[in-house]
Amino acid sequence: MPLVAVEHLTMRFGGLIAVDNLSFTAYRDEITAIIGPNGAGKTTVFNCLTGFYRPSSGHLSMHVGGEIVRLERIAGFRIARRAGIARTFQNIRLFAGMTVLENLIVAQHNSLMAASAFSIAGLLGLRRYRSAEAAAVERARHWLDRIGLTDRADGLAGALPYGAQRRLEIARALCTGPLLLCLDEPAAGLNPRESEELNQLLLLIRREEGIGILLIEHDMNVVMGISDHVIVLDYGRKIADAAPAEIRADPRVIKAYLGEEDIAEAREGEIGDVAPAEAGAQGQPARTRGPDFPLSRE
Ligand SMILES: Nc1ncnc2c1ncn2[C@@H]1O[C@H](COP(=O)(O)OP(=O)(O)O)[C@@H](O)[C@H]1O
Ligand SMILES: [Mg+2]
Repeated sequence: MPLVAVEHLTMRFGGLIAVDNLSFTAYRDEITAIIGPNGAGKTTVFNCLTGFYRPSSGHLSMHVGGEIVRLERIAGFRIARRAGIARTFQNIRLFAGMTVLENLIVAQHNSLMAASAFSIAGLLGLRRYRSAEAAAVERARHWLDRIGLTDRADGLAGALPYGAQRRLEIARALCTGPLLLCLDEPAAGLNPRESEELNQLLLLIRREEGIGILLIEHDMNVVMGISDHVIVLDYGRKIADAAPAEIRADPRVIKAYLGEEDIAEAREGEIGDVAPAEAGAQGQPARTRGPDFPLSRE
């Protein structure tokens, strides 16, 4: 049973085709990774799925409790609630001046406001609001425990170490109760220990929450370690869609990351610093290679 189906998605910015006729399916209880060199169109896919951009063409269908919600047909700001999609961003966007707990409560603003019936009377007295508020705090506490930040609940989010801020962002997205969680490079800047903690957190979410995860990531230890399937983009096109082991050995994938000449060089000896790939066809801008892609030599 698919959770989200992307069919023939194309996103143009003027003459630039950032996403080119992309189709893929992601499932509940699975981690689907989207990888590819910088500029390949990964974040643009998220921006289409979450309503930041309206696709130039194509269909985005989300399965919500037996019903199919067509994302391209609903207003962007309604998507999170209507279709149950939450995301994190490539750059951390926490409320640094709020406490850790407050960050998790404001994420639930939508359901709290609905419980207040959008009136001051609702806020001041209704039992419905109070129980919604208690539920919001309970959900926040649950996730604080899961990300190991219960003892930092009343400290400022901005004072947390970087890896903890990344986990807090994920918890904040989860507090909205999504069916699909979209994570944009959550391991960027993490040290190996933090990156391993992130792996464990994502595996726990997959195991216990019954949701699907779409994961954009450059860290191949994360991607290869926890993904159920991997989609590879290059210049907006899908060049591979398979299980991690197959992706690792796919010559097209290796070429997209390294370029032909660099593969020859890599075969001769060590993989040294690789110059950014040449500008692609169709006047696409030159891109830089992502962090090291571990070539399998097994
Ligand atoms: N709002 C925008 N306007 C114009 N070009 C954009 C916009 N957003 C993304 N792009 C371009 O689309 C391409 C894909 O970008 P992006 O999706 O951010 O790549 P990735 O996340 O894979 O690094 C890039 O060439 C980028 O410059
Ligand atoms: Mg990106």
